[in-house]
Amino acid sequence: MKDKARIAVLVSGGGTNLQALIDAQKAGLIPHGEIVTVISNKEGAFALERAKKAGIEAVTILKSDCGSTEEFEDVIGDSLEFRKIDLIVLAGFLAVLSENFVKRFQNRIINIHPSLIPSFCGDGMYGLRVHNAALARGVKVTGATVHYVNEITDGGEIILQKAVDILPGDTPAALQKRVMEEAEWKLLPQATEIVCQKIIKETSADEYL
Ligand code: GRF
Repeated sequence: MKDKARIAVLVSGGGTNLQALIDAQKAGLIPHGEIVTVISNKEGAFALERAKKAGIEAVTILKSDCGSTEEFEDVIGDSLEFRKIDLIVLAGFLAVLSENFVKRFQNRIINIHPSLIPSFCGDGMYGLRVHNAALARGVKVTGATVHYVNEITDGGEIILQKAVDILPGDTPAALQKRVMEEAEWKLLPQATEIVCQKIIKETSADEYL
């Protein structure tokens, strides 16, 4: 019986959420999972440095090296299967994954989004745009959500959410930072552990069938 789910983290940028996962793993907060690879679709993403520093394999797969989106996703999917990955964590991964890819890894992909879904999410809603939209709408509370990934952008089942107050004078950048510090960096490791536990349970139950 396996005791740890094999985790791949997919990134495109700075990787502060990846760092939160690495730190949580080191602190023993993800006992049912192990980050075995980090895959970036952007050359030189700082997240790759964070992975290497933690002794984790860091891989770059560029869409421009593949003929089409389909081939790009095939290369990623094959790399994940080759590494026997149980859970794919999207941590600031900016490529939208097709229905085909999502079906290939059904219930095995989770994502972190910097708002309380269903507010300020969906196609084109990423990065500072999300916080801009929250401030423009004048909401008093925002937050972060970790959810399963399905064929609808930010539409999969919600795993965890955490609220963050909007303060007078907040700018999009200030709000982004506070949502990360107060919500994202705590929520993603917690949700990852929850899903890893579930995967381990399912896999050991399957062994008895
Ligand atoms: C985070 O705000 C995350 O919620 C979103 O993309 C951003 C990634 O930041 N999906 P980082 O690369 O983890 O620092």
